[in-house]
Amino acid sequence: MPYFTKMNHLKLYILTLCLGLFIGCSDGKKEQAVTVMFTCDTQGRLEPCGCFSGQYGGLARIATRADYFTDGTVIKVDAGNSVPDNKDYNLIMYKYVQEAFKKIGYDAVNVGAHELTLSLDQLKNINQNNCPPIISANLVNKQTQERIFKDHVQFERDGLKIAIVGVVDPTIPGETLGEGLAVKDMPSAITESLKGTQEADFRVLLAYCSKEKMHELAKKFFEFDLIIGGAVQQPSQKLERINRSYVLYTTNKAKNVGHVSGLFKSGNGLSDVDYDIPLLFEQVPEKKEILDLADAYRKEIRNTKLDCDIHNKDQEDLVPGVTSQASYVGSQTCASCHSNAHKIWQGTAHAHAFATLEKKNSDADPRCIKCHTVGFGEPSGYKREFKNTKLVNVSCESCHGPGSEHVKQRMSPEKVLFKYRPLGEGDCRQCHHGEFSRPFDWKKMWPKIKHGKESQK
Ligand code: HEC
Ligand code: HEC
Ligand code: HEC
Ligand code: HEC
Repeated sequence: MPYFTKMNHLKLYILTLCLGLFIGCSDGKKEQAVTVMFTCDTQGRLEPCGCFSGQYGGLARIATRADYFTDGTVIKVDAGNSVPDNKDYNLIMYKYVQEAFKKIGYDAVNVGAHELTLSLDQLKNINQNNCPPIISANLVNKQTQERIFKDHVQFERDGLKIAIVGVVDPTIPGETLGEGLAVKDMPSAITESLKGTQEADFRVLLAYCSKEKMHELAKKFFEFDLIIGGAVQQPSQKLERINRSYVLYTTNKAKNVGHVSGLFKSGNGLSDVDYDIPLLFEQVPEKKEILDLADAYRKEIRNTKLDCDIHNKDQEDLVPGVTSQASYVGSQTCASCHSNAHKIWQGTAHAHAFATLEKKNSDADPRCIKCHTVGFGEPSGYKREFKNTKLVNVSCESCHGPGSEHVKQRMSPEKVLFKYRPLGEGDCRQCHHGEFSRPFDWKKMWPKIKHGKESQK
C-alpha cells in the first residue's frame, strides 16, 4: 500500500473475532468492524482540469482509494455539494458524476449548498434511478411542503441494520435558493426522520452545515453513531466525540477522502475509533473507468446544444439606436499596427492555449473555453461553433478587452478619445487563480510575455 498509511482493519477484525468469542456470545450481540468512507464538496470533479501538472484529487482517485476498504462492513457516503452549479452543461456532467458514485459504490449522497441553487424542476431530474440515492430530510417543495428526495436510506449489510439521514443548513443558500424550493429547520426534520429508523442498529447523519451546527446536532440527538459534514474550510483536524456521536467533516473539491473505522456493537456504539482524511496526491492512480466517464461527458457536450450556443440572448442588453459597445476583432487586426507585440505574443504559451484544449478533447467544454479563448460568453466573443477559426487562444483582447473602438479611432484622422486602460497583475489573476494555475507571481510571469512600450524601444 504505497499511497496511504496502513489501516488497522485487519487488527480490528481479528480483535472482533476474539471478542466475539468471549463477550459476544454472552449477550448474543455481535461486535463488528465498520468503516465509513466519506466525501463532501466534490463539486462534480471527476478529474482535475489539468491546467498544471501535479494536481490532486478527483473522483477517479477517490475510486482508487475506495478499493482499499475491503475489511468488515463498509459504508460509503457523500455529505453534499456534489453538484458544481446549475448550468446546463454541469447538470449534464452530473449524470456522469452519479455513474461514478455508482461505480465507487456510494450508499447515499446528501444535498448540500450547491444542490439548493437548482430549481425544483432541475432537482427532480437529477437523481437517476439506478444510481446512489440523493437524500434530504429538510429540503421540500415550496408549494406542497413535501420532500423532494427520500429523507433517509435504510439497508442491511453483514447483518447490520444501517440508516443514513441527510440534512442541509437552511440558512446557507440566502438569495440563491432555487425556484420552487424551501428548506425546513434541521432539528425538526431529523426528529421526524428518526421515526422511520427505529429498526436500525447503526445511524449516520449527513449534515451539510458548519462544524458548530454539527456539534449542536450531536448534543441534541443521541441516536447517531456518526455525524458527517459539512460546510467547513478544512477537513477535521481531530476526532471529535460529542455525547454518543463522532463528528467528522471534509471539503475541498474532491481533493481528500475520509474514512472512519471502529468496532460497533449494538447498544454500546462505536469503540476503538480511528480516522484519516488523506490528500489524494497526484501519485494516486486515477481509475480508468471513471476517466472514461469524463470522456463520455466531453463527447456528449460536444454534440449538445447548450444555453451558451443561443446567441440572440447575448444581444438582449444592447439598446437599439445607441452606439454599441466595442466588439472583438481578433489578434490579426492588432498585428497590422503592433507587429512587435504580436511577434512576441506568438512566442508565448498564450498563443497555443486552444490547441492545448484540443489535445485534451476539451475544446467544446464550456468549463474550459472561457480562459483559453477570447471573450467567450460575451456577444461578440468566441462561440463554440467557431471551432478553430476565430478568437481562439489567449490573445490580445483576452487581456486588453474588445478592440473595435480602438481600431476605428486609430484608423481615422479624428482625435483619439478611446484609450485602453493600463493592465496589471489583477488582470492576469482572472485566469491565473485557484486550481487553474500554479501560484501566480507577476514578477516571474510578466517578463515571460513582456511586450508593448518597453519592448518597442
Ligand atoms: C479560470 C481559467 C481557466 C479555466 C476555466 C481552465 N483553464 Fe486551463 N489553464 C489556465 C491557466 C491560467 C493555465 C496556465 C497555468 C500555469 O501555467 O500555471 C492553464 C493551462 C492549461 C493546460 C496546460 C498545462 C501545461 O502545462 O501544458 C491545460 C492542458 C489546460 N489548461 C486544460 C484545461 C481544461 C481541460 C480545462 C477545463 C476542464 C481548463 N483548462 C480550464 C486557465 C484556465
Ligand atoms: C490602425 C492601427 C492600430 C490597430 C489596428 C491597433 N492599434 Fe493599438 N495603438 C495604435 C496606436 C497608433 C497607438 C498609440 C501609440 C502607441 O502607444 O504605441 C496604440 C495604442 C495601443 C495601446 C496603448 C493604450 C492606448 O489605448 O493608447 C494598446 C493597449 C493597444 N494599442 C492595443 C491594441 C490591440 C489589443 C489591438 C487589436 C484589438 C490594437 N491595439 C489595434 C494603433 C493601432
Ligand atoms: C484569458 C485567460 C488568461 C489571462 C487573462 C492570462 N493568462 Fe496566462 N495563461 C492562460 C492559459 C490558458 C495559459 C496556458 C496556455 C497553454 O499552455 O496552452 C497561460 C499561460 C501563461 C504563461 C506560461 C506559463 C509558463 O510557465 O510558461 C505565462 C508566463 C502567463 N500565462 C502569464 C500571464 C500574465 C503575465 C498575464 C497577465 C498579464 C496572464 N498570463 C493573463 C490564460 C490566461
Ligand atoms: C496575457 C495578457 C496580455 C495579452 C495576451 C496581450 N497583452 Fe498587451 N499588455 C498586457 C500588459 C499587462 C501590458 C502592460 C501594462 C499596460 O501598460 O497595460 C501590456 C501592454 C501592451 C501595450 C503597451 C501599452 C501602453 O500603455 O503603451 C500594447 C501596445 C499591447 N500590450 C498590445 C498588445 C497586442 C497587440 C497584443 C496581441 C498581439 C497583446 N498586447 C497581448 C497584457 C497582455
